[in-house]
Amino acid sequence: MCGIVGYVGAQSALDVVVAGLKRLEYRGYDSAGVAVLADGGLAAAKKAGKLINLEKELKDRPLPTGSTGIGHTRWATHGGPTDTNAHPHLDNAGRVAVVHNGIIENFAALRAELEERGHELSSETDTEVVAHLLAEEFSSCADLAEAMRLVCRRLEGAFTLVATHADQPDVVVGARRNSPLVVGVGEGEAFLASDVAAFIAHTRSAVELGQDQVVELRRDRVTVTGFDGSPAEVRAYHVDWDASAAEKGGYDYFMLKEIAEQPKAVADTLLGRIDAGGSLTLDEVRIDDSELREIDKVVIVACGTAFHAGMIAKYAIEHWTRLPCEVELASEFRYRDPILGGQSLVIAISQSGETMDTLMALRHAREQGSRVLAICNTNGSTIPRESDAVLYTHAGPEVAVASTKAFLTQLVACYLVALYLGQVRGTKWGDEIRAVIRDLSGISAAVDRVLETMEPVRALARSLADKDTVLFLGRHVGYPVALEGALKLKELAYMHAEGFAAGELKHGPIALIEEDLPVVVLVPSPRGRSVLHDKIVSNIQEIRARGARTIVIAEEGDEAVAPYADHLVRIPATPTLLQPLVATVPLQVFACELATARGNEVDQPRNLAKSVTVE
Ligand code: F6R
Repeated sequence: MCGIVGYVGAQSALDVVVAGLKRLEYRGYDSAGVAVLADGGLAAAKKAGKLINLEKELKDRPLPTGSTGIGHTRWATHGGPTDTNAHPHLDNAGRVAVVHNGIIENFAALRAELEERGHELSSETDTEVVAHLLAEEFSSCADLAEAMRLVCRRLEGAFTLVATHADQPDVVVGARRNSPLVVGVGEGEAFLASDVAAFIAHTRSAVELGQDQVVELRRDRVTVTGFDGSPAEVRAYHVDWDASAAEKGGYDYFMLKEIAEQPKAVADTLLGRIDAGGSLTLDEVRIDDSELREIDKVVIVACGTAFHAGMIAKYAIEHWTRLPCEVELASEFRYRDPILGGQSLVIAISQSGETMDTLMALRHAREQGSRVLAICNTNGSTIPRESDAVLYTHAGPEVAVASTKAFLTQLVACYLVALYLGQVRGTKWGDEIRAVIRDLSGISAAVDRVLETMEPVRALARSLADKDTVLFLGRHVGYPVALEGALKLKELAYMHAEGFAAGELKHGPIALIEEDLPVVVLVPSPRGRSVLHDKIVSNIQEIRARGARTIVIAEEGDEAVAPYADHLVRIPATPTLLQPLVATVPLQVFACELATARGNEVDQPRNLAKSVTVE
């Protein structure tokens, strides 16, 4: 939540920062602001609403040109989305500017203290205290990095801070605790951002910042220290995607592009993980095989869409490894005192790698002595850094707030982990593993086929634009897919959408069925456990008899469902456990089209932010 950019170099800082903010707008979009150092002073502009409002303001009232600057796009926590609460925040003399992501928990006490000393604070934010504290500390040490270290030692909570001071014109300083910040290192220039997307057009050389570290950026050097001033090791890495990956590439929305990228994303997640003999090699899983053999249960923690991936993974893990597997919302996990130990394997799934709830859950698991494996899409992010091992999903940057390709690749990664556990624990024979791998290798083409046949789904979505409610039903792995379909519709179309286990219908939700209510039903393969298929066919009949308009997602060749489907969406035949990889795609397209038809912002749905870095 909140996107931050900092720049020092030879280019126009304003141009670099605003371009960076455009790339980060997915992180928060209720207000935006910038500050540049120019002509010995500091000039700032900020505006409530989307970045476009700020751009208009900058056009109407241009700021002076300077080559050091910072910027922010906000997702409000303390104080509503107003011009005054927008970042940057300045001290009373207007010499220091600061932008912030996170929550400073002790800000009220700090504010009272500052006000007692005569400072006047004008916003309702927790951030403004930092500008005033920095100004005070700078007045005695004349060094912004040192002032930042002193201030950070007084702050409680989670924060990324980036600041600049008119008396140190070629310096930008950043700090992080429990909140993301990466450094980009160019030729005679350096960048700070919440996400590499902000500077990928300028450099692919990045530096990870550790927990409780302060970074000082100058044109020719990057210096990292701990909050206590101790020198820190600089951990550089190369970003393996380029600027084009973070562009819309001709699509109207990032979400459409990301849906279309799924065949490649799925293939990339498998790449290099299967050896010539068809066995799995997961190099990034740095937990020793002997330890994996000792595991007595698996616990998956995640939020939102990633949680749904975890729910599906449970079916595969239990089926292929015979290990008990629990799946838990990360936000609930540590508060119920879960039973964990040295033989529990905790899998934390997160696209961003920065979700605070998931991070806290994994920290709790490690405190209990459990091993943690992260499944993550964002290189160098906090969750993989704090885990014992990581499996990257290689989906490329996901910019649209609603997760699509990250979900499919999380599923692939989960299947790989499940198979790997089966391989090292000997619960799956080599030829069985090779057979699943073959099936997984065919998924990319299957998703491609689904995408080619989506026009009727789009037309159907448009025809339902004035509906209030859509229900989703599934059984077995189709149940989490139903939840995911409903989540996509809620977040994008702002409709009442509910996912149910089809078997639960008769225990209450069937009362919701009324004339012409659209109900999407995920039908398991008739070639798998036919009992599942038969049961869902009965469920479809039950709801249709009560007036529901049935939208049936069933595999090619499944004729048993055809008489009961008002709309039939065909998906390629896959083994039951892998069906979510193809069955989810029409639901993504459906939600995206419905949102468009209702005039909603597809990439930036209201009230949401891509990466949820507060609890
Ligand atoms: C929904 C969505 C969210 C995220 C959730 C977890 O489309 O994107 O539900 O899945 O916030 O985010 P990550 O995976 O970054 O931890």
